[in-house]
Amino acid sequence: MEIVKVHASKTYDIKIEKDLLYTVGEEISTIKPKCKVLVVSDDIVHDLYGKIVADSLITCGYNVFEYTFPHGEKSKNLITYGNILNFLAESAFTRSDLVVALGGGVTGDMAGFAASTYMRGIDYVQVPTTLLSMIDSSVGGKTAVDLPSGKNLVGSFYQPIMVLIDTATLTTLPCTEYKNGMGEGIKYVVLDGGELIPIVEKGIRCSCANEIGKFIKLCVTSKANIVEKDEKESNLRRLLNLGHTFAHSIEKLSNYTIPHGVCVAEGLRIISDISHKQGKLNDLDYNKIINLLEKYEMPRITDYSMQDMINVMNVDKKVENGNINFVIPYAIGDCRIESIPLDKVKDLI
Ligand SMILES: NC(=O)c1ccc[n+]([C@@H]2O[C@H](COP(=O)([O-])OP(=O)(O)OC[C@H]3O[C@@H](n4cnc5c(N)ncnc54)[C@H](O)[C@@H]3O)[C@@H](O)[C@H]2O)c1
Ligand SMILES: [Zn+2]
Repeated sequence: MEIVKVHASKTYDIKIEKDLLYTVGEEISTIKPKCKVLVVSDDIVHDLYGKIVADSLITCGYNVFEYTFPHGEKSKNLITYGNILNFLAESAFTRSDLVVALGGGVTGDMAGFAASTYMRGIDYVQVPTTLLSMIDSSVGGKTAVDLPSGKNLVGSFYQPIMVLIDTATLTTLPCTEYKNGMGEGIKYVVLDGGELIPIVEKGIRCSCANEIGKFIKLCVTSKANIVEKDEKESNLRRLLNLGHTFAHSIEKLSNYTIPHGVCVAEGLRIISDISHKQGKLNDLDYNKIINLLEKYEMPRITDYSMQDMINVMNVDKKVENGNINFVIPYAIGDCRIESIPLDKVKDLI
């Protein structure tokens, strides 16, 4: 088993192993006495893995309840969030009980937010089942739901008490969701470099538990290192937004029809182009980044002009005094937060 310790406002373990779902109860029993547990999942994940997790918890003496909602981002709203809170209250959950978020980032964000606010905060465990949630959303304690006027507009910083990653769940993940996760995965390669480079250059397959386990471990270690230094994103944590400034514009312009990770990959390509043209990112690393994006078949998104994207940044108030903050790759493993005048951005493209 791979274990990464996170030392944030809470200290917790991220455990990574094939077939870990079967021992979720045992793992949780090492840190939490018997109590009521609400397992929150969407319908797809519930059908695939709900029984395995519930059985494991019941075997270890936990009193298990389940809350299931229709899959997809459209469920990540105040109504589903309110329904989870009502379910907790009607089932007489107390502050010593537990929420388990079993699923992708939608489940993790929403169940985490419910846990952070029910009775001013009860414990929760993340059990991520998409590549994106394993390497990104389940770690770091950002929880949220969407409002009609924007994504993740209501939320909190609230760390889980444990993250349990079963790499075997990736074998049922659709290819589109795998690609979605790899967009964020390539982001970690550019942020950190090191051991991630050969693993990702070789090619990562969901079916190989060892190599994907190592990849996930390196990604969450990278995220944990940053979160430990800047949990509430006052500065350093913004590095995790590498590729995201353009990605958010593309997502919005596409009316959220293009998956987030694919937009991050395109954002990474654009910012690498800019940095390369500015003479900051060297040829070798620039080519490595572009080759990786091609290796994982990240599509070029050419439907929107630079002006369209900049207009969205303006509306989203990301522009201050004509300047905008970007995370600029100088080399693989050396990314820096910099403010660039918008006029210059347009000239560079
Ligand atoms: N909190 C954070 O730091 C953070 C970071 C990045 C993204 N996010 C959030 O994460 C969300 C996206 O997460 P996501 O991409 O995991 O989406 P998701 O949770 O909607 O999952 C994607 C789809 O995959 C299905 N699925 C999940 N696991 C499966 C499995 N093992 N086998 C088969 N199907 C499976 C789900 O039912 C769903 O239909 C967004 O809401 C985003 O805002 C949060
Ligand atoms: Zn992202």
